[in-house]
Amino acid sequence: MTKITWKPGTLLAPVPPALISCGTLEKPNVMTAAWTGIIASDPAMTYVSIRPSRYSHKLIKDSGEFVINLTHLPLVKAADWCGVKSGKNVDKFKEMGLTASPCSQIKAPQIEEAPVSLECKVKSVTNYGTHDMFLAEIVAVDVDDKYIDEDGKLWLEKAGLIAYVHGFYYTLGRKIGKFGFSVEKNPKKVKEKDFEPKEKTAKTKIITPPKKKNIGKRKKAY
Ligand SMILES: Cc1cc2nc3c(=O)[nH]c(=O)nc-3n(C[C@H](O)[C@H](O)[C@H](O)COP(=O)(O)O)c2cc1C
Repeated sequence: MTKITWKPGTLLAPVPPALISCGTLEKPNVMTAAWTGIIASDPAMTYVSIRPSRYSHKLIKDSGEFVINLTHLPLVKAADWCGVKSGKNVDKFKEMGLTASPCSQIKAPQIEEAPVSLECKVKSVTNYGTHDMFLAEIVAVDVDDKYIDEDGKLWLEKAGLIAYVHGFYYTLGRKIGKFGFSVEKNPKKVKEKDFEPKEKTAKTKIITPPKKKNIGKRKKAY
């Protein structure tokens, strides 16, 4: 294998094409950001790096709040569009048919259609050349309940999250392992069906058995 050494760059991939919502419920804005990630677990800390020229930059700086909305296939067009249009000139929620809904801990709106939304409160803003990094605490997590099973377990893989890789959007591929599988003594072969969520509400179908004398006389049950 030969590796070519390039000049420094931002080639970390995949990254999430997250929709960062900000502003207020009455006047919401949203921009796409791929420069976001987790910094610590407890307290849950995150960051988003935003160029000062973005309309969202001022909104987030003034309010000290934003929401990181994860994106799935139904939101891929919005993820791209909100990353090329500015809220200075257009109502992106309206144009993309997104719903601004209230958060539990902050005044910034979340995107109702997003499978997961992280409510964030800014702790500091640090400039790193082209971008300002908004370091923030995640103060609440809002999850679409269709991905939570009857035992309260989250099945996020069912959301069909998307990834951004070097200028292109992708859906995620096959599940190929579970946290810690590499050190398990007797690793169980993981089958897709092991990861199926349980039905949220039991679907009870009442079937009346045919009377005995009819058994065998019907050509087809269905
Ligand atoms: C996939 C993708 C990722 C992006 N990531 C960032 C980012 O991390 N930081 C940033 O400042 N701009 C990023 N942008 C560009 C902004 O989303 C874009 O300039 C947007 O129009 C800003 O909107 P606003 O002016 O309403 O705030 C990204 C755009 C796309 C399409």
